[in-house]
Amino acid sequence: MKIAIGNDHAATDLKMEIAEYVKSLGHEVINFGTDGHESCDYPAYGEKVGRAVAAGEADCGILICGTGVGISLAANKVKGVRCGVCSDTTTAHLIKEHNNANIIAFGARIVGSEKAKDIVKAYLEAEFMGGRHQSRVDMIGEIEQSQR
Ligand code: RB5
Repeated sequence: MKIAIGNDHAATDLKMEIAEYVKSLGHEVINFGTDGHESCDYPAYGEKVGRAVAAGEADCGILICGTGVGISLAANKVKGVRCGVCSDTTTAHLIKEHNNANIIAFGARIVGSEKAKDIVKAYLEAEFMGGRHQSRVDMIGEIEQSQR
C-alpha cells in the first residue's frame, strides 16, 4: 500500500522510526513532513495527509503529533477523511474493522515507539468488516455532505 505520513515537531523522531517500520512491512511511504524539530503548526500536516488520502494519492495515512489529537482534528476537516486517535492495538484494529478509518493518529508524547509500531501493524493488517458497519460509516458521510 501507499501510506501518507505526516507529523509536527513533537513527533519527528518517532515519524522517522515509523516510516522505516512501515517500509519494512513492504509498504511505500509518502512523507509529508515535517522532518525538522523546530516548532511548526500541526494543522498544516494533518491537512496535507488528509488531502492526499482523500484524493486517492495514498491508500491510507498515519499522523503523529504530541497527543495525536490536534493533527487528527485537522485531518478530519478534509472531506472524505475518517481519522481517529489510537493509543492501543485494540482501537487500532477496530478503527479499521468498524469505522473504516482511512487515517490513524497517535501521540509521540503518549505512546512509545514499540507501542506505536504495534498500533501501526494492527491498523494496516485489519480489514473493514462492512455489513452493519457500512451503514454507520455511510451516516458519517451523510453528516459531512449535509453541511457542504
Ligand atoms: C505541540 O506542542 C502540541 O500542541 C502538538 O504536538 C499536539 O499535541 C497538538 O494536539
